[in-house]
Amino acid sequence: MKTLFLCAAESLRSCALTVAMALLLFIASARMSLPAQESATHTGVSPSAASPLGHRPWANPALPSAKRAQLLLQQMTLDEKIAMVHGVTPIPVHGYVGYVPPNTRLGIPALTLADGRAAVGNGAKDITLLPAPIAAASAWDVDLMNAFGRVLGQEQWIKGTNVALAPSIDVVRIPEWGRTFESYGEDPYFNARMAVAEIKGIQSQGPIADANMYLSMNQEDNRLKEDSRVDERTLQEIYLPPFAAAIRQAHVDTIMCAYVKTNGVYSCENDYLLNKVLRKQLGFDGWVMSDWGATHSTVDSANHGLDQEMPDSRYFGDKLKAAVQSGQVSQEVLDAHVLHILLPMFQHGLFERPNPGSWSANARNPERDAFSREVAEAGTVLLKNAHGILPLRTSAHVAIIGAAGTAQPKVEGEGSSQANAPYVISPLEGIRNRLGINGNTKVSFEDGSDLGKAADIASHADVAIVFVSTEDGEGSDRPNLELPGNQDALINSVTAVNQNTIVVLDTGGPVLMPWINRVAGVIEAWYPGQEDGNAIAAILYGDVDPSAKLPLTFPRSAEAIPTSRKEQWPGVNGRSIYNEGLNVGYRWYDATNTQPLFPFGFGLSYTTFSISHLAIKPLRPSRSADAISRRFAVRVDVTNTGTREGAEVVQIYVKHPLADGEPPHQLRAFAKVELKPGETKTAIMALDPESFMTYNTPTHRWMRRAGTYEILAGTSSRDLPLAKTISIPLK
Ligand code: NOJ
Repeated sequence: MKTLFLCAAESLRSCALTVAMALLLFIASARMSLPAQESATHTGVSPSAASPLGHRPWANPALPSAKRAQLLLQQMTLDEKIAMVHGVTPIPVHGYVGYVPPNTRLGIPALTLADGRAAVGNGAKDITLLPAPIAAASAWDVDLMNAFGRVLGQEQWIKGTNVALAPSIDVVRIPEWGRTFESYGEDPYFNARMAVAEIKGIQSQGPIADANMYLSMNQEDNRLKEDSRVDERTLQEIYLPPFAAAIRQAHVDTIMCAYVKTNGVYSCENDYLLNKVLRKQLGFDGWVMSDWGATHSTVDSANHGLDQEMPDSRYFGDKLKAAVQSGQVSQEVLDAHVLHILLPMFQHGLFERPNPGSWSANARNPERDAFSREVAEAGTVLLKNAHGILPLRTSAHVAIIGAAGTAQPKVEGEGSSQANAPYVISPLEGIRNRLGINGNTKVSFEDGSDLGKAADIASHADVAIVFVSTEDGEGSDRPNLELPGNQDALINSVTAVNQNTIVVLDTGGPVLMPWINRVAGVIEAWYPGQEDGNAIAAILYGDVDPSAKLPLTFPRSAEAIPTSRKEQWPGVNGRSIYNEGLNVGYRWYDATNTQPLFPFGFGLSYTTFSISHLAIKPLRPSRSADAISRRFAVRVDVTNTGTREGAEVVQIYVKHPLADGEPPHQLRAFAKVELKPGETKTAIMALDPESFMTYNTPTHRWMRRAGTYEILAGTSSRDLPLAKTISIPLK
């Protein structure tokens, strides 16, 4: 297992091979110890299935996958095809949340599906709980996100999962969204970069990844019926890019259609979204599975692009068989669905290695525990640090206050992604570990349920650290952006007696901070996973320099958000109107000149940086007939002007010509640069052709518009000191 962590991101292919070899050996030895019956059930391939290749020409790995899938399809009966396009319940094998039984006659392995955005879910034991994806994304580090995917994929594979239900890549439209923590943030380009990195990571380890939830799945309230009314351009420019990148750049092989409706039609029977956009526009050749219970019809779903119903056969079992027999669904349509499933199964080698592991296998190891901590440290965002209160001196007497800091650490969100942490280090434990003390000599603590007691310990401490949290999860949105319960009051009573108060947020998304001017420090630690306490201690005491940045905007008030009207969220008469259009997240704050509390892309460090010398030049110029499709190289010098080692994220935003009707400026490139004190490095980034494209609704096409574009460089969406213009010619 150690191999994984020694693999450089550039050599992923050979890395994957090495790890796969190691895993196969591991699996082979694990299987040998299984009772015969369990082993046979799990593989689903009976000994008699081992026929000569001649009887099973599709078993020849030398043939192209598409050919093998075709050869196999030719041998399948109608019942066998129908069996591929739905799951079965109850699931006959312990653990998985979705299951398609093996076909022993033809040697088709079972499909074993498991949840998990930050760990293997569905009650699996002996796994590693990583920080929530929103935390990992906050590191703005695609290599880290790739490693995150590798760990997730590796543990799923060890658990016998061959379809990992991750990642969740929807753009965060409303700050109250109950599943914000599962996603990456509010920017389509940023989410696309993260999705590609994570999917490549997952799929490099064996399992097929699953991009979910497709599409316009942006709220939990009323999610089983909600109708997202969204115009075509917004759909294409804001909500689609992460999925487009997942398909084109990461070759994701399954996509989960969502619960909601888009413009009146349920996602899993939406001809426009599935047939027109996914298949025709994006060239998706994997399979679309429904979210659990998100299938609503037989004929429409089958004809409009759903390949597989999950978790059972309500619409795609006998009813689909009858629809094929009566001609309402053609044989060709059914065959296409089956091929969409078989092709990735061949491409991922599932026929050659059908039994990747076992649900009861132990997926833990010290390297992955350490990785969980690394991600938590890298994803923790320093939002306020008045008069250099942080990092703390180890001699300071600290009061740890709040349930999330003591008895009830808040390390993950709730819902289908929830996992069993093997252990959790609370902030109190982490700080004690860091200080190397056992008793209360320099650390006092209170859970915050009694404001008087909390104020009392705060008044005797040099520094008070208040840990607050939100209970985000699937199924409902947060009712508002306030901290629940008495937590604002708790912060107020502590700040009343101690000016050196630091608030640590363990939240799944943005919260309001009515106390912001009274606290000295604010840290967003998100849902930090099993290493919570160790990671926050490392940040508080400066063992690690904070270098994370917000992947979404924190608003100043409940009104000053893009979706403050009821018709936008949670919707009226079941409809949520996306009338903010393209102005999602920071785009809206810029377009309406609204001051956020903390802008997208913002995050402090214990050191300081300056950026200079923005330079832009075309990449691979002139050879292409279409000069406009050139990419541009952007260079920016970054200097560490402080006294500590640290990392800065350079962000490049593009401002379109006014006539494009685009939001003021949009993220199109970024790079993270690590620097020693006094050191200068040049960050080199690429601006892709898409940076200059918009969606033209009348022609239903993406197009590049000639004109003058402004390229802005800086360290948050609201701090863009460098600018240059480039001209894109007509042709
Ligand atoms: C519903 C969730 O929306 C989805 O993300 C998950 O994969 C399935 N349930 C299966 O648990």
